[in-house]
Amino acid sequence: MTDPKADTFAAVDAEALEKQATTEIASAETLDELDAARVKYLGRKSELKLALRDVRDRETGMTLNALRERLETAVAEKQNQLETAELERVYAESAVDVTLPGERVARGRLHLLTQIKREIEDIFLGMGYEVFEGPEVVTAWQNFDALTTDRGHPSRSPNDTFYLTDDVLLRTHTSPDQIRLMESRQPPIYAIMPGRVYRRDTPDATHSPTFLQVEALVVDRGITLADLKGSVLHFFRQLFGPTREVRMRTSFFPFTEPSVEFDVTCFICDAQGCPVCKHSGWIEMGGAGWVDPQVFVNVGYDPEEWSGFAFGLGIERIAMLRHGLPDLRLFWENDVRVLEQF
Ligand code: FA5
Repeated sequence: MTDPKADTFAAVDAEALEKQATTEIASAETLDELDAARVKYLGRKSELKLALRDVRDRETGMTLNALRERLETAVAEKQNQLETAELERVYAESAVDVTLPGERVARGRLHLLTQIKREIEDIFLGMGYEVFEGPEVVTAWQNFDALTTDRGHPSRSPNDTFYLTDDVLLRTHTSPDQIRLMESRQPPIYAIMPGRVYRRDTPDATHSPTFLQVEALVVDRGITLADLKGSVLHFFRQLFGPTREVRMRTSFFPFTEPSVEFDVTCFICDAQGCPVCKHSGWIEMGGAGWVDPQVFVNVGYDPEEWSGFAFGLGIERIAMLRHGLPDLRLFWENDVRVLEQF
């Protein structure tokens, strides 16, 4: 005996159900809406699943199963269609237009002081010198005592020098590198030692509490003062060209005897006198001299056998002169509008 209820359901409702379900599946605009339709028509508690569970005769079962398969296919196709549309939308949003011009990448450059430091190194390497760099933190022995600087010398005062302890300090010049180098090897020495130094100087157009120096040291047999003068003049000519005037004047440093200072004609006023050169027409570039025999004794060299000269120059002053900059504070302010010009 057949179940009249099941027959009636299969004959009448299956057609209506299919129409309603396919319309709803087809009109789903999102995956969520589609899932809701799937649950409604194919879920465990859906009309179709309940009918299938209760079905009694084979024909109705086949009809309902065929309907289930068609609805499942419709859901799968719709899901595929919605997912493809979503992917296309994401691709379109993130698409790269390869025909657009590229963005220009800003190129970095070396700081002017680094450029000048390297130029100085190149000039001395060309004269056969070696390049060494020493530490910025040194002992009072290296910075003062070995350089025969008296206990009472004003440069040792805490008003002039940054002390870390009674005996350790930020080097006030690159001359302690001379001591380190001589203590570590025997002559002959032809070397330069560039580096940062520190002093309690009040900042102005030509002074900064931290600045760069380059030290030169030559120790050999038969060195004369003419070698010192020739080397420094050659260096200045290479750096500033043949027209800039250089003068040597007598001076005093505790570790050289005799001592001199080098001045170069002021680039701002062309030696006429201006605030930058303090109305003298000259800018001081560095100190130099004949290495004091006592310094050789302090590092264990025989002063009867060896002689030599040393000099120390301010790198900011050199950079100012090379490029006509009126104030060395421009180097530290790091205004890219200034730095970009070099
Ligand atoms: C010295 O520092 C000596 N060690 C130089 C030396 C070396 C003499 C070897 C003899 C033998 P001075 O204090 O003059 O000397 O400094 C040398 C140079 O550093 C100056 O000529 C100047 O160009 C530069 N300089 C000095 N103080 C400052 C400062 N506060 N800011 C910028 N540059 C400075």
